[in-house]
Amino acid sequence: MTPPAGSFETGWPSALLDEIAAAGTVAVLTGAGVSAASGIPTFREAQTGLWTRFRPEDLATPEAFAANPARVWQWYQWRRSLIARAEPNGAHRAVARLQRHLIDCRVITQNVDGLHERAGARVSALHGNIWRQRCQRRCGFSETATEPDDRPEPPPCPACAAPMRPDVVWFGESLPADVLKAAVTAVEHAEVVLVAGTSGLVYPAAALPEQALARGRTVVEINPDDTPLSAVATVRCRNAADAALPALCEALALPD
Ligand code: OAD
Repeated sequence: MTPPAGSFETGWPSALLDEIAAAGTVAVLTGAGVSAASGIPTFREAQTGLWTRFRPEDLATPEAFAANPARVWQWYQWRRSLIARAEPNGAHRAVARLQRHLIDCRVITQNVDGLHERAGARVSALHGNIWRQRCQRRCGFSETATEPDDRPEPPPCPACAAPMRPDVVWFGESLPADVLKAAVTAVEHAEVVLVAGTSGLVYPAAALPEQALARGRTVVEINPDDTPLSAVATVRCRNAADAALPALCEALALPD
């Protein structure tokens, strides 16, 4: 089937809908833009992005944690407090709906907020989960919290007394190998890859759409703004994910 080309804002192209419906195999790769409508700040957007207000090298590297564990710990607890007040939005619900009703829909996220999971999706979380914390020394201990931890310092690991740290991937660290493998498999398996709400600047996540394109798959970018992927994506949907993804579910006539 010849993939449709071009850009649209609303009204999913019928050829693309036919392709998704006929194949039934879709991978969805999401980034911070998918949680924007829930009130969670993105990273790189002018004015509001976290990395315009904070320096990642002070907060999201192993070196930052070694130099000032309290500052890093408190920053992640602040982010937890924002997420704790947030609810999944239409984009998260639509992704879960696609997963429930398509033959095979695998979801890969760079987000650590857990909102996809709260909306009912099973995800490969490439960058970890902000609600999980683990032993910094990797003794094997990890635990999941349900609210921000207001202790000013990272608590000691109950098993070995090394400091606990957020179980997220920091700059300079490798992604969990099993999660990355599942993501690559998902993209290789899918006829259509939907890429929603990511600037596509952080690797290896940004390589996943490139791998799909190299295999001749249809890659649909859902983002109101241009990214490096925009020039090469098969189709661009110039709309917010919280509008575009529910509209896709409706156009495919998926049950709730
Ligand atoms: P970015 O902040 O880099 O990009 C967010 C993208 O979402 C931008 O391209 C926006 O145009 C777009 N966007 C904003 N609102 C949107 C909406 N309602 N619908 C659709 N798109 C929207 O965030 P990520 O690409 O997720 O890594 O960043 C990737 C990684 O960089 C993050 O996982 C994090 C960060 O450093 C780690 O912490 C390891």
